Amino acid sequence: MIGAAQAGKPVTITGLGAHVPERVVTNDELSQHVDTSDEWIRERTGIRERRIAAPEEALSDLALPAAREALRQAGVEGSDIDLVIVATVTPDMAFPSTGALLADALGATDAAAYDLSAGCTGFMYALAQGYGMLAAGLARRALVVGGDVLSRILDWTDRSTLVLFGDGAGAVVLEAAPDDGFLGFELGADGAGGASLWLPGSGSRLFEEPDRFVKMNGREVFKFATRVLVDSAEAVLERCGVAIEDVDVYVPHQANVRIIDHATKKLGIPSDRVVINVDRYGNTSSGSIPLALADAEADGRLRPGKLVLMTGMGAGLTWGSALMRWTKAAA
Ligand code: ACO
Repeated sequence: MIGAAQAGKPVTITGLGAHVPERVVTNDELSQHVDTSDEWIRERTGIRERRIAAPEEALSDLALPAAREALRQAGVEGSDIDLVIVATVTPDMAFPSTGALLADALGATDAAAYDLSAGCTGFMYALAQGYGMLAAGLARRALVVGGDVLSRILDWTDRSTLVLFGDGAGAVVLEAAPDDGFLGFELGADGAGGASLWLPGSGSRLFEEPDRFVKMNGREVFKFATRVLVDSAEAVLERCGVAIEDVDVYVPHQANVRIIDHATKKLGIPSDRVVINVDRYGNTSSGSIPLALADAEADGRLRPGKLVLMTGMGAGLTWGSALMRWTKAAA
């Protein structure tokens, strides 16, 4: 799916928040669980540490502070929100949805609220949905959340997956803008490749002997990731008639610094335009891109008029990009 955002009124992000659990887990700490080392993890992934949720913390506990900050920045109340989308593969539970729980906690009593599952690409899918509903006039003000508590579905004896992931969530408020905002989206999925990254016992198949741990063929996912990060970014840029040299801020999914470096070089984006925080948070799945956006805002890079390119990829297998001209002004 690809499209330039010209269908309706301009839509933008008017508030942005992020939240990670307090507990920092270093590579050295993980080497007490599995046969690994700080050196191996840093060299192969760029990850130094990640945040891990406390046993009593579920996704909605991470999403709520992020959502409150996004609402505060946008200058709106929970009751002003009429659409809540939570992108995640680790909701509090299958139902009620984390979206519904969050809407309740925020007082968004008039909102449609649901969860969306597209692996680590979930936030890109949710942004596109939120954009579409606002541009079509179905909703006026959306809260879009991306977050995961991946630590809950990791096998703490499997070094090939344990070292890669962390927990975290981010949230944005979407509203109509006078101009600028989203320019286009590209989204895709390849279910045939899904077995490279899967959670077999998590639904109506294999429910009698649930195996609730992430399984991954790292090399296959690596090859897939380096290909789609480039293809998806180039496709959305071409559709929107924007040259790669014009991209000011590149926000790739934070899975592995080697994957990011590969994509950045192939695309020809100077490294000082790339947002990287995988060293501090690991791969936070659906939380990765909003957490990276919040970091880019904190370090002053997200100024009005800047061209921002976000690309995610993950389980499904899925991928997706969004291109926007940054403005936080509401119409
Ligand atoms: N510590 C030490 N050694 C390890 C570890 C570890 N944590 N993990 C694997 N190894 C070993 C392997 O067993 C292998 O040993 P062998 O040669 O004796 O068999 C060796 O290290 C090399 O393994 P490779 O798989 O070739 O290592 P690679 O350089 O490919 O790095 C990695 C592995 C980091 C997993 C990489 O393939 C990768 O990043 N893949 C993409 C993963 C990813 O992004 N997943 C998330 C997608 S997003 C989502 O939706 C969740």
